[in-house]
Amino acid sequence: MCGIIGILGKTDTVPAMLGALKRLEYRGYDSAGVAVLDDGQIKRRREIGKLQALMNSVGDDPIAGTSGIGHTRWATHGEPTTKNAHPHITSRVAVVHNGIIENFRDLRDELKNLGIICEGESDTEVITKLLDHYLQDGMDPVTAFKAMISRVTGAYALAVLMSGEKDLMLGARRGSPLVIGLGDGEMFFGSDALALADLTNRLIYMEEGDLAVLSHSKAEIYDKNDTLVQRKISFSHISGALIDRGNHRHFMQKEIYEQPTVVAQTLGRYLNPNTGTIALPAMDFSLANISKITLVACGTSYYAALVAKYWIEQYAHVSVDVDIASEFRYRNPVYAQGGLCLFISQSGETADTLAALRHAKDAGQHVGVIVNAAESSMAREAALVMHTHAGPEIGVASTKAFTCQLAVLAAFTVALGVERSVIETSRSRALVAELESAPTLISKILSDHDPIISMADKLASARDILFVGRGIQYPIALEGALKLKELSYIHAEGYAAGELKHGPIALIDEHVPVIGIAPKGEISKKTISNLQEIAARKGNVILVSDDISLSTEFKGAFIMPTAGQFIEPLVYAIPVQLIAYYTAVAKGTDVDQPRNLAKAVTVE
Ligand code: G6P
Repeated sequence: MCGIIGILGKTDTVPAMLGALKRLEYRGYDSAGVAVLDDGQIKRRREIGKLQALMNSVGDDPIAGTSGIGHTRWATHGEPTTKNAHPHITSRVAVVHNGIIENFRDLRDELKNLGIICEGESDTEVITKLLDHYLQDGMDPVTAFKAMISRVTGAYALAVLMSGEKDLMLGARRGSPLVIGLGDGEMFFGSDALALADLTNRLIYMEEGDLAVLSHSKAEIYDKNDTLVQRKISFSHISGALIDRGNHRHFMQKEIYEQPTVVAQTLGRYLNPNTGTIALPAMDFSLANISKITLVACGTSYYAALVAKYWIEQYAHVSVDVDIASEFRYRNPVYAQGGLCLFISQSGETADTLAALRHAKDAGQHVGVIVNAAESSMAREAALVMHTHAGPEIGVASTKAFTCQLAVLAAFTVALGVERSVIETSRSRALVAELESAPTLISKILSDHDPIISMADKLASARDILFVGRGIQYPIALEGALKLKELSYIHAEGYAAGELKHGPIALIDEHVPVIGIAPKGEISKKTISNLQEIAARKGNVILVSDDISLSTEFKGAFIMPTAGQFIEPLVYAIPVQLIAYYTAVAKGTDVDQPRNLAKAVTVE
């Protein structure tokens, strides 16, 4: 979603701001802009579309200044037009904002009564004009900023420049993350650590309700009670080099290929191959006493949760509820006494998941997270933090973070089963050994998947595609369909294979490809029967299976290496990613930044 950079620098900030906006592109955006103080006056450039348009605009009509703010906008209030793009400015202030100001209509009416008119539909324009109004009323910059903040409800991360104030930049956070970067005689704001990579590695993660007053030499932070506070300085290891595609055509392709390494890296933090045991981070409750587990997430992370339900119930015998985060707190969930709620998120910032986490925490549940962004809000607010070690994921569609989430959830399942004495030592050893074999199996698929490429060329002309699977492969079918639709814009749905006859089979004709995910085993016989029912109706079935005897049974097949049953979802996640990736490539869509999508969805 939207990205923020703010620089109080020593030299012209425009090149560094454009570099930071480039690093923020991965979050998804539809317009971009920068504003600087040039001789104390605010100058601005904004463009819709890709960052290149802004770079061209700045190239054609340069602006320069030692302090500046920049933004990539993912439209919420108001269309992605130049008028709605950030920074919003008046002659006195320039503002960039992530989040949503919920009471902007009331504030806009209030300003209108004062004769101050907002021209666009953007909530940010309203708070910019409100701040300007307080300055015009004679308030000093910090007082005016605090007064404006005190009037707004909703979510925000803000960075603000004021004309004539060369040694001042203001920022605030509530609901949307904001990071302060400490430089050498320079100060920065960024919406995440990647924005500030290459600028500084000394970071302060602002907390909820914090407001910051930056000068070139210091950062003053006021907490939600307006008390001056000291916040911890963290050292970031993220470098701009991490967001390099290397020899790959897309970040997504690079991230798919990184999976053997990052899955092994993640498993390495939890498994002890010598003893066949699993060690989870310390927790202040006993897993043996957990009566119920609730898994909550959005998007691809939600499908990881669905896989985990099958794992945890089957192997550790604990009842699991799975919820879409945006539904969770509004349905008044019934919490079990002493239950464990686990929230799964790549970014650790997804607004709905974070709100669900807070809901569970307030209800006295044990709260854990499985999270990739180590310094994210979720990682800082949960008692039990299980990190995935996927490294920064830049492609909007999640791939390596998903398989690393599965790796952690599988390890968690085994640890839980052992703790509850339903998995014996020899069984635990066998499951750990299976997990250890996963990276090699993933490598094998990646080094030999040509049939998927030719399959994808044909899929690219389909209008609708179905993915079907049974049991633990059902969530993989859902993930396959999600990945395909978000990347290629082809309508795709995932179904439990046994459910096809209850409606979806009406869609089947020779134009609808059906991808059946069916690793060899008891349950696959049922899936194969369902696929035969589709073939009998001229459906164009493509089988993904390790059962070589079925390789000519249907119109198409991708033969997989055989994996241990426990790790099958981790391994079968790979072909569905590849199908989506190559279909999108064949269609020529924007693989890394599909239209309308954002990487971390920080608004509800
Ligand atoms: C967005 C992304 C998805 C991601 C989902 C949940 O929709 O485009 O790829 O799965 O958010 O994100 P999270 O960071 O919470 O895993």
